[in-house]
Amino acid sequence: MRSQSPWRDQVIGVDMQVPLLAGGYRLYVNLDNASSTPVLKPVLETVVRFLPWYASIHRGTGFKSKLSTWAYEEARARVLEFVGADPKEYVASFVRNTTEAVNKLAWRLGQDQRKALAVTTLMEHHSNDLPWRRHFRLLRLPLDSSGFPEFDRLEDLLSEHSGQVRLVAVTGASNVTGLVTPIHELARIAHRHGAHIFVDAAQLAPHKPIRVQGDGREDSHIDFLAFSAHKMYAPFGSGALVARRDLLREIEPFEIGGGTVLRVSTDSVIYADPPWSEEAGSPNVVGAIALAAAIHWFQTTGMSAVEAYEHELARATWEILRSIPEVDLYGPAEFDAGPDRLGVFSFNLRGWHHAKLAAVLAYEFGIGVRNGCFCAQPYVKALLGVNRSLEEKLMERSREGTTIPTPGAVRVSLGFYNSLDEVQYLGQALSRLATGEFEPRPYRLTAEGEYIPEDGDHDFAGSFRRLVADWGFPTGGMGGV
Ligand SMILES: Cc1ncc(COP(=O)(O)O)c(C=O)c1O
Repeated sequence: MRSQSPWRDQVIGVDMQVPLLAGGYRLYVNLDNASSTPVLKPVLETVVRFLPWYASIHRGTGFKSKLSTWAYEEARARVLEFVGADPKEYVASFVRNTTEAVNKLAWRLGQDQRKALAVTTLMEHHSNDLPWRRHFRLLRLPLDSSGFPEFDRLEDLLSEHSGQVRLVAVTGASNVTGLVTPIHELARIAHRHGAHIFVDAAQLAPHKPIRVQGDGREDSHIDFLAFSAHKMYAPFGSGALVARRDLLREIEPFEIGGGTVLRVSTDSVIYADPPWSEEAGSPNVVGAIALAAAIHWFQTTGMSAVEAYEHELARATWEILRSIPEVDLYGPAEFDAGPDRLGVFSFNLRGWHHAKLAAVLAYEFGIGVRNGCFCAQPYVKALLGVNRSLEEKLMERSREGTTIPTPGAVRVSLGFYNSLDEVQYLGQALSRLATGEFEPRPYRLTAEGEYIPEDGDHDFAGSFRRLVADWGFPTGGMGGV
């Protein structure tokens, strides 16, 4: 495995030094890419070059408006191309993020109450669970002992509820364990039983090629799919919902208003066809163009090259974590034996609360990770073995507003720009903490459940002013507020 990523210099901010509690600075190690990735340089360059030409789209007649309209619609075409969708059969609409896409779709599909059931799994992010809960009765596939959903039970579940299940909604890859779902296999089963399939591709899209029209086998196509640009090195507030054209036409859109209609009289309305019916109000043109620029980068670099590099780095990370006896790693016991996986690993270090470990890694080693339940509380609780009665107690205490240390884990998640020396550095930090060779400073738990150093936090306001911009508010004329 090469020690440096071939694409490291393509990403903005990989050379930033951050302050350490002991004094001095160190190169920041960002291992929190499943939350959000940094920005690709070509994405920023495209945005900066586009901005002087930016103007309102679709209705303007000036050159800039028409150029912006062209770029926006071209970005839409790029999204379809990225997921292998024929524009005659599929439509892409821009959304804020995956969460918005799922909410929109759940509302639409939920209006048709002929089939009131949806199947999902225990491995889902809240965004691929709560919106469905609101509109459907959910059936959830349970987990096997390695933390992977028991997908071989799907066929029986659909037979048992014959004709009542409208949708199978699954994540393409877990944001907790990185396990990759066999989406085309599930699509065939869903379609065999008259159900549609939605894939939450928030984690899949930045790491693996996607083919919504299937893997070559009959009925293996994906009906609906969504992803977010901020997880694809283009954090400008956009995402995409890709859907089969015929399925979106059935029901009136979730949000309505400007841009969604063909004709309006005082007492009736004719809605436009998708995708325009899906994009109420003025759209995020810059976000769409940033997403298309990221897609262009992935296409010209080669998704398979990215996938191969990340797979090797993921294996190396897994081996490093497994080599530390005090690390309890969640998910399958072998790296390659079970389902395919991304470079996303959740673990606990024995004797450490996950929030404190994450804080020490940040404050004393300059490593950014995430801790908690990663917006997948049912899944993380299942992996940790939190039983029903403890779960109910935790719910009760939260209703009362009591702060208690919640169960959770620490997560490291890799991007294509991460390197072997970064994960080795993480391994050394964890080993030194586990053996007591490194003595952290004293910390205190805040009411928000975060650990911060007892002798005071960094001066983030001062750092922002010094490093980024001065956001001082003018007080004259405002009564000295
Ligand atoms: C698997 C998965 N689904 C959905 C989401 C929600 O994405 P967004 O916050 O961009 O809406 C995330 C975000 O972490 C995720 O990991």
